[in-house]
Amino acid sequence: MAGGNDIPFKIEVSSRIRRLPPYLFARINSLKAQKRRAGHDVIDLGMGNPIDPSPDFVIDKLAEAARDPRNHRYSASVGIFNLRREVALKYKRRYGVDLDPETEIVATIGSKEGFSHLMLALLGAGDTVVVGDPAYPIHMYAVALAGANVISVPLGNDEAFLQRIEHVLKNLYPRPKLLILNYPHNPSAMTVEPKFYQQAVELARQYNVLIISDFAYGETCFDTYHAPSFLATPGAKEVGVEFSTMSKPYNMAGWRVGFCCGNSEMVRALSTIKGYYDYGHFAPIQIASILALRKGDDFVARQAAVYQKRRDVLVSGLRKLGWSVESPRASMFVWAKVADQHLAGQGTIDFSLRLLEEADVAVAPGRGFGENGEGFVRIALVENELRIKQALRQMDAALNGRKKHQRPSNLSAKTPTQDHASAPLDVTSADDGRSSVVGG
Ligand SMILES: Cc1ncc(COP(=O)(O)O)c(C=O)c1O
Repeated sequence: MAGGNDIPFKIEVSSRIRRLPPYLFARINSLKAQKRRAGHDVIDLGMGNPIDPSPDFVIDKLAEAARDPRNHRYSASVGIFNLRREVALKYKRRYGVDLDPETEIVATIGSKEGFSHLMLALLGAGDTVVVGDPAYPIHMYAVALAGANVISVPLGNDEAFLQRIEHVLKNLYPRPKLLILNYPHNPSAMTVEPKFYQQAVELARQYNVLIISDFAYGETCFDTYHAPSFLATPGAKEVGVEFSTMSKPYNMAGWRVGFCCGNSEMVRALSTIKGYYDYGHFAPIQIASILALRKGDDFVARQAAVYQKRRDVLVSGLRKLGWSVESPRASMFVWAKVADQHLAGQGTIDFSLRLLEEADVAVAPGRGFGENGEGFVRIALVENELRIKQALRQMDAALNGRKKHQRPSNLSAKTPTQDHASAPLDVTSADDGRSSVVGG
């Protein structure tokens, strides 16, 4: 070959990618895909990916707005003004928080995108971020991708947790720059009361550390619990921002609409980065999201009630299996300690693989969220009550050796992903058989 040499061509990925921690859900995702290809009806409680439809009135608005050619151009990367104004109105209505849509709100392509780019906007080599363990994996990956370091502190929702953080802030040099909070929490479903945020803001002021609140499950609350917004705390806007999302409360996960609100300098930093990287959402998505925010309060309450019922079914079933499980008061998850006799000396990654293998039920192993997640599994409330009951029966059969119940015919129907290989190309459905991965 002219000009060639014998050295094999090699693609060197960046150090940014190389410093990512191992993806601990990979084996489970691959076994799940394998089982589905083999025709198994896997009951997938692994990922917090909503299964219920987005609101009809929002879909109608999307269709209407999509027909208007004026909406086909590039949009604004920070989100159109009316969308940001609607977010401000909602924060005022629900939490009593005043936000300036011009300077204190930026729309993001899902809160995950916003969070990740905010890390890029605020962090660099040598910076450190304090994160609770266990954690939603992005809270660590995004820090690593930005070139900074994570220091994990055993998670809590009380003064003792804040004291552990204070100990780190006092003793680590250079001092950590950022503290990530996430209540209602993924994966543990832990919640807080307003006092917790008051103490966190005091800590932030004292040690000059910024706070990022991930409020993805803020509206998925059960019984009489109403999750407080970090931004409702006096002084919060001086030290931090909060991320919220349309994904969970409005079942709009695929629409990718989130928001970052609060401290104007942090919002500006994120807007600057986004201005370089993206042109914002397709305008019809933003227009439909305005309507969701304006008219969707009842929808959000009804959806939370759906999760609450599933929670009740799951928690009581797990207790019957012999597990000691706390009933969560928010989020889309039950964080369940696996009974010792079922764990049988295994770690939760191997246990979850065994459960998938023997019961056709996918859950997320706690170890995938950090060392302190070991011993637990996260079970997402993303199947209907009948399917959750079926999953519990299959778990009982596999773990307690009880007789497997015959599956009612409406439950053994194939999942839409199974016929993927043989189905004709379906341009009305986005289901390509890879759409559910554990860990999210
Ligand atoms: C804690 C937490 N934050 C953020 C996200 C991402 O949400 P979005 O769809 O807005 O990117 C998730 C999704 O599972 C989550 O659990």
